[in-house]
Amino acid sequence: MAELASVAEMQPLFVEVLKLCGVKSNEKVAVLSEGGLAQEYSMTFMAAVAALDAEPVRVNVAATSDAGAEARIANLGRSALSTDAAAMRSLKQADLVIDLMLLLFSREQIEIQKSGARILMVVEPFEVLQRLMPNPSMRARVEAAERRMQAAKTLRFTNDAGTDLHYELKALNGPPPECILTEYGYTDTPGRWDHWPSGFLASTGTVTGVEGTVVMNAGDIVLPWKQFLKTPVEFKISNGKVTDINGEEDARRLRDYIEGFNDPRAYAVSHIGWGLNEDALWAVDVPGIAMDSRAYYGNVLFSLGPNTEFGGANDTACHLDLPMKNCSLWLDDDLIVSRGEVLPNDMRALNSA
Ligand SMILES: [Fe+2]
Repeated sequence: MAELASVAEMQPLFVEVLKLCGVKSNEKVAVLSEGGLAQEYSMTFMAAVAALDAEPVRVNVAATSDAGAEARIANLGRSALSTDAAAMRSLKQADLVIDLMLLLFSREQIEIQKSGARILMVVEPFEVLQRLMPNPSMRARVEAAERRMQAAKTLRFTNDAGTDLHYELKALNGPPPECILTEYGYTDTPGRWDHWPSGFLASTGTVTGVEGTVVMNAGDIVLPWKQFLKTPVEFKISNGKVTDINGEEDARRLRDYIEGFNDPRAYAVSHIGWGLNEDALWAVDVPGIAMDSRAYYGNVLFSLGPNTEFGGANDTACHLDLPMKNCSLWLDDDLIVSRGEVLPNDMRALNSA
């Protein structure tokens, strides 16, 4: 296990991220944690907020388990915050909430966003935060991609293994959660959520508007398992739902996993987008929840499960993120990613080939 970083080592980076979030001296910053988890981060953020002459507010809710972020991301949406009205009040009064407990895909997160507070989730180990430190250039590229996606009516992606999936895109031009999900690692916009580290964007099809076939290749990644596929897996998709999962051992394991949630909504197709972080690794042996493969430059991130982050009603606890390499992706008739290469100049990283 990696050695824990000290408060002194972490604080300058936390101050820098708070500055990117536009924290001003008259602002209230709530630092949300759960039980005894992430207390080094909580202390360091409290100190970093104070260093900027803003007002830090520690909000700590009872722990439902001691398993932390890696377990939470496999069972999203439920937490002690659901029954802690006092904590919710504090969070809704804040200008910025630092989420150290992983509220993703919860009703509470949407409620806090609607109050106007911006939210930055921080759950990855320090070595990952450090390596994937956000910057304004990444933001510009993710926002260029967002504008393209907002203007598009359809999305299609393919790969050489036989994928050909077509989305009728949901119109997402409103306030959160009726918007495209952009993640560039910080947020200075009221009501907007982001996650340090990241570097990608995601939209969603209409509830019944996704049709076709996805064939994940050996070497593509299954999250939250943090595993490479050993053999290809084929998903047949009709009316926005997976109807068949075909293949060998990996396909059987995926079928069993989804069935285990005993929830027909687990078969829904969720978000779709592509990665834009040139520092992210194509790896599963990274500590934490594996943002690397989600944000990997030129990937296509296909996903099954909930859609509450996009204003939908599906809050199934079964959430699979399925990053795929060497895919091609079109918005309407425009080729955006060609076999893993990002084409538009305004989305390209300076140091990419
Ligand atoms: Fe996802």
